[in-house]
Amino acid sequence: MILAPQELENSASKYAAEAIRLDSQGSRLKAIQFYQRAIEALNKLIQIYPEYKLNKIYLERSNAYLNRIKSLQMSNVLEDEEGKSDEDLVGNDLDRSSDKKTGNEFKKPKESLGEEFDSLIMQEKPKISWKEVIGLDDAKRAIRESIVYPTKRSDLFPLGWPRGLLLYGPPGCGKTLLAAAAAAEIEGYFVNVDASAMMSKWLGEAEKNVSKLFKMANKLYESENIPVLLFIDEIDSLLGTRNGEVGGEIRVKNQFLTEMDGISNKSKNPKLYVIGATNKPWSLEAGFLRRFQKRIYVTLPDNDSRNYLFKQYTALLKKDKTLKIEELSKLVQGYSASDIKDICQAAQLRVVNELFESGKAMESESNPRPISMNDFKEIIKIRKSTISIDMIRAYMRWSEQFKAL
Ligand SMILES: Nc1ncnc2c1ncn2[C@@H]1O[C@H](COP(=O)(O)OP(=O)(O)OP(=O)(O)O)[C@@H](O)[C@H]1O
Ligand SMILES: [Mg+2]
Repeated sequence: MILAPQELENSASKYAAEAIRLDSQGSRLKAIQFYQRAIEALNKLIQIYPEYKLNKIYLERSNAYLNRIKSLQMSNVLEDEEGKSDEDLVGNDLDRSSDKKTGNEFKKPKESLGEEFDSLIMQEKPKISWKEVIGLDDAKRAIRESIVYPTKRSDLFPLGWPRGLLLYGPPGCGKTLLAAAAAAEIEGYFVNVDASAMMSKWLGEAEKNVSKLFKMANKLYESENIPVLLFIDEIDSLLGTRNGEVGGEIRVKNQFLTEMDGISNKSKNPKLYVIGATNKPWSLEAGFLRRFQKRIYVTLPDNDSRNYLFKQYTALLKKDKTLKIEELSKLVQGYSASDIKDICQAAQLRVVNELFESGKAMESESNPRPISMNDFKEIIKIRKSTISIDMIRAYMRWSEQFKAL
C-alpha cells in the first residue's frame, strides 16, 4: 500500500515530536528509537515522492535527527567508559551535561523554521510572454483587463480594480504559466509560493507563514516600487485541516482573508496582486471566493491549441514526412498541454533509446532516426490523458455557478 504524503508526513512528525520529548527527558535509548522511526518515515517520503517540494526540508530534518542519534550514542559510550551504571541507558537520567561534552549543536525543529519557509518562496522577474501561453484567450483577456491595464494607467480606474484572481482548472493547462506571463507583462516580481507547503507541520504555524508572506510582498513593493504579483498555488489547501491541530485551519483561513482585505483596501498600495490557483475550486467557500473578484477557468487546449502545442514542442525534434500534426491533434482530444509536452518528450526518448540499444550511441556522429507518425501513435496508445471526463464535467458545473470574468 502506498501512503499519501500527508499520512507519511504526519507519522514522521509524530515520531519526531515523541523523540524530542523523550530526548528532553533524557530517555536516550527510547529517543533514539523514535528518531530512527522519524528518519525512516522521512526517507520513505523522499523515495516515494522524489519530486516533492518539501524534500529538501525532509532531508535536512532527517540528517539533523541522524546527527542527534550519533551524539546520543556517543554520550552513552563516554558514560560507559566513565563507569556509569546501565540504568542510564534505559532512560530517566535528567543530566544532559554529557551533551556538552560531545559539542552537540542539535536544534529542535521549531527554532529553525523561519528560514525554511522562506526558502520555499520563489521570487523572480519572469521573462515569459503571452505568446508562449498557447490558447486560453478568455483567461488572457481577463488578466489583461484586471491586472495589466490598471497597472499601466491606474488614473483610469477611479473605482479601483480587482486585486484577487482565481485561476482554476485541471492540472497542466497553464495556470502557473499564465500568472508568470502576467507578472512579466507588468514588469513586476513574481512571488511564487505553494499553499500546501505552507501548511506543512515542519514549517511552524501556518497562519504566521501567511502573514509573513504578505508582509514580504508588501515590503518588496514598497522598497522597489514595482508591481508584485503574489502567486499562491494550491490555494485550496489553506482550507485543509492540519492533523491534530484543533481550530488551526480556521485561524489560517481568517488570517488569509484579513490579508486579502488589507491589500484591497489600501489605496496607497495599488500594485500588489494575488493570483490563487487551484484544481479543486469547489472546496473553496464563499468568503474566499468573494476576495477573488475574477474567477477564471483555465481549460484544456482546444483543437487549434493542440496544433500549436505540437508544433512548438516538435520544433526542435527531427521528424520524418509521415508526421501529420493536424491528425495528431485529433488523437489527443481531452489531453492537457503538459500531457502533450510529455508525449513529444516520450517520442524523442523512444528514438534515443533505440540508438543506445543498437550499441551505436557512443560512435561519433551517430544520430537517432527521425520520429515518425507511428511513434506518436504508439505512444498515445499507451499514454492516457491525466484528466478524466468526470473532472471536466465537475469544472463546467462549478463554472456555471461561480465563474466571474
Ligand atoms: N497553455 C499552455 N501553453 C503552453 N504550454 C503550456 C500550456 N499549459 C501548460 N503548458 C506546459 O505544461 C507545463 C505545466 O503547465 P502549468 O504549470 O502552467 O500548469 P498548471 O495549470 O499550473 O498545472 P497544475 O495545476 O498542475 O499546477 C508548462 O510548463 C508548459 O510547458
Ligand atoms: Mg501550476
